[in-house]
Amino acid sequence: MRVLGIDTSCDETAAAVVLDGRTAQSNVVASQVELHARFGGVVPEIACRAHTENITRVIERALSDAGVALSGLDGVAVTNRPGLIGALLVGVNAAKAVALAADLPLVGVNHVEAHVFASVLESGEPEAPFVALVVSGGHTTLFLVHGPGRLEELGRTVDDAAGEAFDKASAALGLGYPGGPVIDRMAADGDPRAVAFRRPWLDPASLDFSFSGLKTAVLYHARGQDARGRASGLRPEVDVRDVAASFQEAVVDVLVRKTLLAAERTGVRRVVLGGGVAANSRLRARFVEAAGAAGVGLVLPPRALCTDNAAMVAVVGSRRLAAGEDDGLGLDAYSRMA
Ligand code: KG4
Ligand code: ZN
Repeated sequence: MRVLGIDTSCDETAAAVVLDGRTAQSNVVASQVELHARFGGVVPEIACRAHTENITRVIERALSDAGVALSGLDGVAVTNRPGLIGALLVGVNAAKAVALAADLPLVGVNHVEAHVFASVLESGEPEAPFVALVVSGGHTTLFLVHGPGRLEELGRTVDDAAGEAFDKASAALGLGYPGGPVIDRMAADGDPRAVAFRRPWLDPASLDFSFSGLKTAVLYHARGQDARGRASGLRPEVDVRDVAASFQEAVVDVLVRKTLLAAERTGVRRVVLGGGVAANSRLRARFVEAAGAAGVGLVLPPRALCTDNAAMVAVVGSRRLAAGEDDGLGLDAYSRMA
């Protein structure tokens, strides 16, 4: 079965062709980062417009890279939740156009579930049950996964997502957008013990997360207690690399410990990571170390499958299409998870 996947949930216009739910024959991602960078974050109106301009070209490229025509497809899978509503609608409408033109079944996919199963493209289906941590710009969620489509939420962020904290900490340090990759790079030359940021454990037994206090702590450390944002200027004694490394270490400490706590509590011996923040070098190294020490199996997708892409959407959609499901042309988009 050959499935076209489409994702326009945020600021990447993505399309991919996936064979039998596990082999990417193409995986095209058109990033809009440059368009949003000067605003310091994703501007929904600009994202929608860019998706509209790019979507046809991106789908054509995904088909040509895979060497297939529309007639060679067996179905279409598109992210229809959660995300920026206007952005999602561009992908959903493009998917409907393809499904109508080529008379194909169409299924809507949950973007967060797609992050959970992105690793299938590299290492095959992880044996269930397993604990999954999705850490992205919009989500920080721990799941107990019983099988395809059967995700039980164990915990989530009560405020900012981990990626959002990276982006805001980066802005506080004057490092620009998107923050994750640049903090990752700066932190490599910094001392993670330089600034003792308090770890937001919440209740120590809780599997929920909170990152907004940490982001504010970075702002105050970098620009002073009454800092109101970038206008305040960096304090001269601040070493940006040390602050980046210390902030990153605090986030990673919490993510690693709570994820392993989830595994321990559920008695599950396997952990799967997904989402843009799972591309972080320090997070990857610490998870390898901690999972090894705890005797827990770790599935870590390659970086390009951690960040947004449409191949992971096709993976999840393929299973539903293979089971004969078809959401049809009435498929709608939703900004939230449900
Ligand atoms: O999964 P993703 O591409 O999009 C969403 O679904 O949100 O995640 C984007 C987020 C951004 O906040 C970005 O700063 C973060 O992932 N990110 C990283 C790294 N690469 C991307 N965070 C930390 N370290 C990285 N290397
Ligand atoms: Zn994502």
